[in-house]
Amino acid sequence: MSERKYNFSAGPAVLPLPVLKKAQEELLCLPGCGASILEISHRSKQFGEILAQTKANVRELLNVPENYKIMFLQGGALTQFAMIPMNIIRNREVSADYVVTGNWSKKAASEAKTQGKINVIFDDKEEGYVRKPKDEELRTTPGAAYCYICANETIEGVQFQKEPNVDLPLVCDASSEIFSRPVNMEKYGILYACAQKNAGPAGVTLVIMRDDFVEMSGDDLPSMFSYKKLAEKDSMLNTPPTFGIYIMKLVTDWLKEQGGLQAMYEKNLEKAKLLYDAIDASNGFYRVHANKEYRSFMNVSFRLPSEELDKKFQEEAKAYDLVSLNGHRSVGGERASIYNAMPREGVVALRDFMVEFAKKNA
Ligand SMILES: Cc1ncc(COP(=O)(O)O)c(C=O)c1O
Repeated sequence: MSERKYNFSAGPAVLPLPVLKKAQEELLCLPGCGASILEISHRSKQFGEILAQTKANVRELLNVPENYKIMFLQGGALTQFAMIPMNIIRNREVSADYVVTGNWSKKAASEAKTQGKINVIFDDKEEGYVRKPKDEELRTTPGAAYCYICANETIEGVQFQKEPNVDLPLVCDASSEIFSRPVNMEKYGILYACAQKNAGPAGVTLVIMRDDFVEMSGDDLPSMFSYKKLAEKDSMLNTPPTFGIYIMKLVTDWLKEQGGLQAMYEKNLEKAKLLYDAIDASNGFYRVHANKEYRSFMNVSFRLPSEELDKKFQEEAKAYDLVSLNGHRSVGGERASIYNAMPREGVVALRDFMVEFAKKNA
């Protein structure tokens, strides 16, 4: 235990310690089951109960209405980049609007282009992906099937402070902020997230989809790419990622114990404020990538005055057990991912280190 450090990795990322302990405790033998979760059939009664409880937890936490399906799929978020347009716009006389606010939505738009007609209605490329659009900047295309957004751009640390107000159903990649705050599900046709940041381990992707979107799925698609077929079989068209679903159950149990998503949101805002206040007080020594209004409370992306100092910062941080602070290879600098499971003490330790480092090196 003493070897665990404060891990600021963007994903796979820190998991709540009680979740890891519970999984450790149950790894050799799931209570009443006589075998490990890793060893039992996905058709077993025990796994059936885990799947049903995970779904119930997700429905409760995100307040998902009954006319939405909850699925646990494979292939990561990147598969959804293609599967969504493949099911919703391919081979139909309909297009989709895309809001490009960073690397992940850019990639989603480029994958979508392989499947059908898309309209990029906002692209912050020129400014270097530092902000989200204001509602009045979003002119949707009449007849478009959906408006695609990435709620939180993990790499740039740019986040919608609230859901954009548009006259189309939102399709949202919430990979790096799922379960970090309450959402208004009724605005969404699809809300999805890979698990390995805020919801569990790599290998399972949570997809929440309104029934009319499920119904739009192309009948001509191979089964594993058809939402309709996946939903009909309750994520059990083939062997689902059983261990990932089990861990997501433990994570969502833990979230309920923490008081649910409003309580989580308040904790997350407070943790992020600790870092941003230190950054703002550093007289420009630390510079945040995002414009102030769009700063992410999940991924704090910043840089120091030189690459040399960036390196020194990351090296010296290790001595304080603060690890994985490097920015994404495409933007450099630093990134502190402070997901739900990052304890406040970890953020305080990083803040204190940042203040000291700036004093010595400014
Ligand atoms: C917002 C966002 N979307 C998509 C992805 C890609 O997810 P995956 O690696 O599961 O395909 C990531 C991170 O890896 C992400 O942060």
